[in-house]
Amino acid sequence: MRLLALSGSLRARSSNGAVLRSALALHDGPATTADIGALPHFNPDLDGENATPPPPVAALRTAAAAADAILIVSPEYAHGVPGVLKNALDWLVSSGECVDKPTAVITASPFPTGGDHANAQLRETLRTMSADVIASACVEIPAIGPKVDPTTERITDEATLAGLRTALSHLTAEPAPAPAPAEA
Ligand SMILES: Cc1cc2nc3c(=O)[nH]c(=O)nc-3n(C[C@H](O)[C@H](O)[C@H](O)COP(=O)(O)O)c2cc1C
Repeated sequence: MRLLALSGSLRARSSNGAVLRSALALHDGPATTADIGALPHFNPDLDGENATPPPPVAALRTAAAAADAILIVSPEYAHGVPGVLKNALDWLVSSGECVDKPTAVITASPFPTGGDHANAQLRETLRTMSADVIASACVEIPAIGPKVDPTTERITDEATLAGLRTALSHLTAEPAPAPAPAEA
């Protein structure tokens, strides 16, 4: 299973970046992290069938098309989704790479709420994009600060790592085969 990971934080020492790296270290397979900070602001004039997408947009779409599943890790800003992440998702609406793709949303916050507003908003946006949002792979991580080792910038909290392991196993699980048709 090839994963595409997107982080909603551009901060160099991002705690969500630590979550993303820790999650990918638990993943048994190839993974790519998209550089969404390089994307231009979404503009419908640059989108659609007759438009040539700017190179960073084309790169994001190629990476999304090549992925079997998408992992989104993000902070919450002012009870919302960071603009840089919403911008990246807007570039993927009409091109359709997220349609039916298993997708997980993880939010991490220094507060007890775990970024619950941003998590819910991201899931709503992704469902609107027809992504296959795997509810059991979506996680809100509260009080993230002490759960990150400042030297390795990885998660050290065992319960959080266990939650990430479960989320990844649900995200990357093969879909159950369709039941055989009943005999007439
Ligand atoms: C402009 C701004 C708004 C924020 N608003 C929220 C918020 O609504 N809810 C929340 O849980 N944290 C909020 N925070 C705190 C972030 O969760 C915190 O800075 C977090 O460490 C950012 O994630 P990062 O470490 O991955 O960069 C806000 C931070 C900033 C800079």
